Amino acid sequence: MSEATNINAIEARLDEFAGSAMIQKTHDFGYPLNQKSRLIGFYKWLSGSGLNISTLDNAGDPFDIRGTLSNTLEFEREVIEYFGPLYGFDPDDLWGIVTFSGTDGNDHGLYFGSKYLERKTKKKPVMYVSEEAHYSSRRLADLQNLDMRLIPADVHGSMDPAELEKAIVPDRPALVVFAMGTTFKGGIDDMDALNAVLAKYPEMEVYRHIDAALFGGYIPHTKYRDILNRKLHPYDSIAISGHKFFGMDEPAGLFLTTMNVRNNQNPFDIAYLNGDMPMINCSRSALSPLKLWWIINTTSSEEFEEQSEGMLERAAWLKDELEKSGYKAWLEHASNTVYFTRPPQKVVEKYHLAPDHDDRLGGDLSHIVVMQHVTKERLTDFLNDLKA
Ligand SMILES: Cc1ncc(COP(=O)(O)O)c(C=O)c1O
Repeated sequence: MSEATNINAIEARLDEFAGSAMIQKTHDFGYPLNQKSRLIGFYKWLSGSGLNISTLDNAGDPFDIRGTLSNTLEFEREVIEYFGPLYGFDPDDLWGIVTFSGTDGNDHGLYFGSKYLERKTKKKPVMYVSEEAHYSSRRLADLQNLDMRLIPADVHGSMDPAELEKAIVPDRPALVVFAMGTTFKGGIDDMDALNAVLAKYPEMEVYRHIDAALFGGYIPHTKYRDILNRKLHPYDSIAISGHKFFGMDEPAGLFLTTMNVRNNQNPFDIAYLNGDMPMINCSRSALSPLKLWWIINTTSSEEFEEQSEGMLERAAWLKDELEKSGYKAWLEHASNTVYFTRPPQKVVEKYHLAPDHDDRLGGDLSHIVVMQHVTKERLTDFLNDLKA
């Protein structure tokens, strides 16, 4: 087979795949991906830049750039510095990285939190997370061999403060994961109520990590922004996904914490990188920080606000319309995730609706995550399919 024929066959196979992916993405309602990519201009620039035929690697600390590897650490740092103040971090006490995903951000949150607490107290922490939080925290507790307590959640998907109180081990430090937007119901852990429980044990050292994979993207651009303001509700680190709200075209995320936390880790002096490397991964994507940098520099705050408010407004509308159609539907505070009695399987499949089950709400459930591409027009098609 000549090279030309081979390329034709390869491209034909890829075209076929791309064609069906382009159709499918318009119906992607069940998972929190933003299918409106902001990166068309980025790829145009990249293809003419020379970087498309180069390998870059962000092995290194964006806040302590020393190496000579080809990297985009300076852009990564600017990305973190852009996001820090949105969550109430002070610019002079901020550290973070662009991660591979929300899970990678949670991995860093649990790892940094447990090492920070161990260093401060010389004791192993107990980790507390709600049963409705994303499973990544449980998986990572297993991976990191953490002593985890799974705390029951109320019917809205929020960690139950009374259950947290029952589980507390006061003579060991507490590594608490707050879920700010649970995956299925979009429930928000009530930080103030949970902190009131933790405050009953003033001797107990506490590290708070927030899993805000989806909500962390849009909440700072809405009237609910105070929920994630660490000046009002103190926390130590936060993980956010890049491919959910922000429209990255592949998995990526953000991990933000303080310099104090970063400087109280297990030291790993890595001679060949000329530095102390606190992060878990050695090689890290250099393209993701560039793409995120592009997105934040080509999208105004007004546009982010418009997208966020639009998502919330359409979510409220969808809940009403579902109820009008005779479906039981729920929408939690500050949430873009409408959950409802599970419709027939044909509809579930067409719109890629994720399944869940809660006997307290009548059994089988589905949800729709109202992202930027989930327009009223597409939701109307969905509602018509339901009626049909
Ligand atoms: C609340 C929450 N946390 C973490 C994750 C995992 O994020 P990622 O898929 O970016 O690893 C998800 C994914 O949906 C999620 O909903």
